[in-house]
Amino acid sequence: MLTDRYQRRFRYLRLSITESCNFKCDYCLPDGPDCSSRREEITLPEIKRLVTAFAQAGTEKVRITGGEPALRRDLTEIIAACKATPGIKEVAITTNGYRLERDIEAWKDAGLDAVNVSVDSFNPGTFQLITGDSRLPSILKGIDKAIALGMKRVKINAVLLRGYNFAEYQQFLDYVKDHPVSLRFIELMLTGDNREYYKHHHVSGSIVQRKLEQAGWESTVKGKTAGPALEYQHPDYAGKMGLIMPYSKDFCNDCNRLRVSSRGQLFMCLFASQHQDLRHLLQEDAPEPVIQFLQDTLQGKEASHHLHEEFTGSTRHLAMIGG
Ligand code: GTP
Ligand code: 5AD
Ligand code: SF4
Repeated sequence: MLTDRYQRRFRYLRLSITESCNFKCDYCLPDGPDCSSRREEITLPEIKRLVTAFAQAGTEKVRITGGEPALRRDLTEIIAACKATPGIKEVAITTNGYRLERDIEAWKDAGLDAVNVSVDSFNPGTFQLITGDSRLPSILKGIDKAIALGMKRVKINAVLLRGYNFAEYQQFLDYVKDHPVSLRFIELMLTGDNREYYKHHHVSGSIVQRKLEQAGWESTVKGKTAGPALEYQHPDYAGKMGLIMPYSKDFCNDCNRLRVSSRGQLFMCLFASQHQDLRHLLQEDAPEPVIQFLQDTLQGKEASHHLHEEFTGSTRHLAMIGG
């Protein structure tokens, strides 16, 4: 089992398979991505070796992230390879949803257990303002399809943005009334690239938390590979509401995840100031050196990411490491 100096256990790998994205979310990639990184993307054989080593070190869950993972032509094979790795119990993906309607069935057949989709607004105009994309109707159909196919979990992410979706709170609640999803509001995180935007649009999640509690929403208990979201349920609603509040005290105390970027670099934290290259260890079928490397490097993991002190490490935007 991978464990750090603070007795935190790491059973969860977030693997970014591309830095590229076809959306231009204002808070993430307003000018679009730097596509030069595509040539350097981790390959399928390297992914198989990486996931095998993590699984042998106790990893049970892999979340495939990006950029936008569906931009990779071999995504279905990557899902299948992760799922076929002995020890991996759950394979999930985080996507902007643009291929969901077309591909969710193939992904499910390949072994995908769960999907997280970004929907920053249910209003097509606001959605386009934030993301630069006009495919909200297809994304929503894709989510319905994922639910109908019986995916184990479907989650929706909405970054809380003053001046945009913050005023659309009721529309989010209305959606959850009859959709069995977990809809999470994420506090906008400061990154190297979004300082000005952050100043204008960041809102504290505690405002939403108060509203939910006043309306009778009750907090639920977390599982051991659960993410950082606080989840709430209400008897009148089919779905759950959640809050991801990285600025709250003690957010990092139950960190359970490690990240590998699409360039094969290990990140101890979303906001680490350094990363370690492990790609050279993925050139042969020998998991032991990778496991040793993980165990040694983990001893340097910091207690907290210091976001509240405006520290963003070397993270220019979250598409770099998959959020
Ligand atoms: P699951 O529990 O596997 O569903 O994970 P998740 O909810 O963390 O996944 P998702 O990829 O949907 O990420 C949602 C948001 O949480 C993104 O904005 C992430 O950047 C943020 N997030 C996830 N893990 C961390 C973390 O360790 N630190 C911080 N600061 N944010 C995180
Ligand atoms: N702050 C908060 N969430 C962010 N995401 C991307 N950039 C940021 C940021 N700066 C979200 C995306 C997606 C998830 C993986 O991360 O909207 O839902
Ligand atoms: Fe793409 Fe996600 Fe960044 Fe939006 S937040 S630009 S969908 S990587």
